[in-house]
Amino acid sequence: MRIFLLSIVSALFLVAGCSNADGAESSKELVLAHNQPQEHPIHESLVDFGRLLEEKSNGELKLRIYSNGQLGSEREVIEMTQTNAVQFTKVSASALESFSEAYSLFSMPYLFDSQEQYRDIMKMPEIQTAFYNKTADNGFIGITYYDAGVRNMYTKERILETNEDMKGLRTRVQPSQTSVQMIEALGGTPTPMGFGEVYTALQSGMLDAAENNESALTDNAHGEVAKHYFYTEHAMVPDILIMNKEAFDELTEEEQQWVQEAADESTALHEPRWDERMVEARETAESEMGVTFYDIDKSTFMEAVQPLQERFADNEATQEQYDLIMRGKQDE
Ligand code: GCU
Repeated sequence: MRIFLLSIVSALFLVAGCSNADGAESSKELVLAHNQPQEHPIHESLVDFGRLLEEKSNGELKLRIYSNGQLGSEREVIEMTQTNAVQFTKVSASALESFSEAYSLFSMPYLFDSQEQYRDIMKMPEIQTAFYNKTADNGFIGITYYDAGVRNMYTKERILETNEDMKGLRTRVQPSQTSVQMIEALGGTPTPMGFGEVYTALQSGMLDAAENNESALTDNAHGEVAKHYFYTEHAMVPDILIMNKEAFDELTEEEQQWVQEAADESTALHEPRWDERMVEARETAESEMGVTFYDIDKSTFMEAVQPLQERFADNEATQEQYDLIMRGKQDE
């Protein structure tokens, strides 16, 4: 019993960190949860974030990462971040839509014209302020973004040539109103669900299609069941690193700066990693999984979603962010 207790105490000691000579805590462990497997590029970029944080703080701030949805779906880990059960999570901006409407803008189809433009705009300080602080009253703030690629349609069987071919196609979307409206506008049948359920739903025939970046085919194995991938390029929805607001406020100014710098640097390291891995994902999906990739004429898709785009141009709740992005596009 004694040995058992001792081992629990020493385990807790490790988690809480070491104390220095006057008993003050010399290291803090912060916890981050996310839904991707450890082979996924985003996991590696979050590992970079932890490494940089530890380096900058001389070991004072350490990061423990729970990957693979071990602690729950995106919705669940956002809620855990709100209560400070975990300090950080990385989720799709789309999952933040129900906490702040501003984030719905990222699910507006064809918001950005190119990936370079999207990356430049995401790094503008005005953009970051306009989004990241919007959820402070919900108990968390945004810290940085990670490129989560370009979202494209993929199907189990059907070949898409125009949006008309989406008719009746049960298509998985992220649990977001805007994504539901997008698939409706395209003529498909939207089926919102958490990312972790998509593979089984495709396999069982509950879904005919989904939409995501290329790594969903390989890292998440969707290419085992969905064999046709179409470059509709209808959205670029960033992943956002969020942090519990109180946990951030409790850090000293210097510690806050380490967090911010480590996050920004990990975002920069993520971009070339992402590009390389999407090329590899396509190659693997083609050669090992038998997925066919199709360049598609996007014009009918773009036309079909125009009413949705017009609604955003005139939506008070997202006006500030919309105008900033449009200005960013003009300045390009
Ligand atoms: C991307 C994104 C994830 C998200 C997923 C989804 O892969 O990086 O954060 O969960 O899309 O479609 O739900």
